Amino acid sequence: MKINTGVLLAGGTGSRLAPSTNIVNKHFLNIFDKPMIYYSLSILLLLKIRNIKIIVDSDSKDILEELLGTGDEFGISVDYIIQDKPLGLPHAINNIFVKDSKLENFAVVLGDNFLHGREFFNNFYDLIDLEKSNIFFQKVNNPEDFGVLHLDEEQNLIDIVEKPKDFISDLAVTGIYTFDDKFFQYFKSIDLSDRNEFEIADILKLYMKDKSLNHIYLGRGMTWMDMGSNESLLNCSNFVRTIQERQNILVNSPHEVAFRNGWITEEQIEKLYLDNNQSTYFQTLYKNIQSIY
Ligand code: G1P
Repeated sequence: MKINTGVLLAGGTGSRLAPSTNIVNKHFLNIFDKPMIYYSLSILLLLKIRNIKIIVDSDSKDILEELLGTGDEFGISVDYIIQDKPLGLPHAINNIFVKDSKLENFAVVLGDNFLHGREFFNNFYDLIDLEKSNIFFQKVNNPEDFGVLHLDEEQNLIDIVEKPKDFISDLAVTGIYTFDDKFFQYFKSIDLSDRNEFEIADILKLYMKDKSLNHIYLGRGMTWMDMGSNESLLNCSNFVRTIQERQNILVNSPHEVAFRNGWITEEQIEKLYLDNNQSTYFQTLYKNIQSIY
């Protein structure tokens, strides 16, 4: 069984990147040669998910729609859903709830998350357990900025702590999740945190209590970053530039992934290239799809 629905969270205030983010949603900022949201969108496309719901703030919806359209350009279908207030990740995700209709498992990706490496994508459906919810963790040097896992000696999950002030572990929860429809029940029972947001960690803890949370280690071959601070934005740009220039490939181009998935044609990409022939992104894209590697 595969997951059909993907949720991309592209709202939020982006306050760490002000002043730019006082006038533009951070997901439009370039990470080297393409907008931030192309990277998180590519994660869903690499997981072969074609039905995508993007949660966005009302000020950014029209611009985002101009960038991604109906999804046709990527061989996918995109719905835009407005989050009226920035009250945290679970509050944003809850917008996809439709009364009286059962939603199967869905994947969630945070719009500022970057993931690169083949192993995860090739093994995803073997790694996850669709009877449960799934989270993915990675070792980092700044755990205080993330949700953090507390594991026992057998690597069983004991607790998840959001942005711990005191050291618990260096294992951070990445912004890629799969949930089932228990999510919406759980959402009704959580409260706002001290920073006036509903916390994803509180939902995960309810899954944990029900013994239905699976935690999966990404491992050394995978590169995970968040792109939401000035430092990480530049680090990620440099990383993408280094890999792209060295290997003459594109990292996380949703157009290329869609082409390799067989969802769009070479003619569609050629047209994009001809319409944007001064763009190094489209130049590299057009060259790249000629190669099987
Ligand atoms: C959010 C989550 C956190 C997770 C992180 C991953 O943090 O709350 O648990 O580790 O995304 O990027 P935020 O980016 O909202 O600070």
